[in-house]
Amino acid sequence: MREGLLRRMPACAALAVLVSLTTLASCSSVTPGARNAEASHDVGTPISAQDLAVWNIDVAPDGRGLPPGSGDVAGGAHIFAAKCAACHGAQGQGGLGDQLIGGQGTLTSAKPKRTVGSYWPYATTLFDYIRRAMPYNAPESLSADEVYAVSAFLLNQNGIVPANTRLDAASLPRVVMPNRDGFVPDPRPGRL
Ligand code: HEC
Repeated sequence: MREGLLRRMPACAALAVLVSLTTLASCSSVTPGARNAEASHDVGTPISAQDLAVWNIDVAPDGRGLPPGSGDVAGGAHIFAAKCAACHGAQGQGGLGDQLIGGQGTLTSAKPKRTVGSYWPYATTLFDYIRRAMPYNAPESLSADEVYAVSAFLLNQNGIVPANTRLDAASLPRVVMPNRDGFVPDPRPGRL
């Protein structure tokens, strides 16, 4: 047992090194210089407001946390073709990555297609998700303007906003998603 534990340790250590290298690599591809990889964030070391700000990027359903900037459908079409279509398909039909467009009206069918357009309750989540996680191979590499634009494009292609839409921190939270009221609280004790 003990021997087995010891034998597994080097692999764990190697994984830890790999993980931290990956983290560092992705940090350096963020908004240039935004994350201070040199700063010590050890337990007991207070983090500066500046260092915290670059990690504190969550956007609430009501839009709290959305950054300044804006982007429109036309701009988003270019970004999508250049940085998203390789995985999500030219029409957002899916490929290596999920289907992002279509699926409306299928949720109650035998084969529900849960996409951004058919399933997601808040448009603001789209901004949050794309900004922190996409493109899959370069997360956090898009500017706020680019994330607004590609969100506008995806919402337009899903028939949710018109083609002349420009989104920003004020207008994105006002977009009403088709499945907004499709979620119900779980009545079981201890659940939300
Ligand atoms: C290298 C491939 C790749 C690229 C490029 C890429 N994605 Fe993705 N995307 C994925 C994968 C894989 C997932 C599923 C991730 C998961 O479930 O953890 C995903 C998931 C998503 C989702 C969530 C879909 C859902 O219904 O859960 C959205 C939205 C999204 N991508 C948008 C984008 C946008 C916008 C771009 C371009 C800026 C982009 N992606 C570029 C691979 C990619």
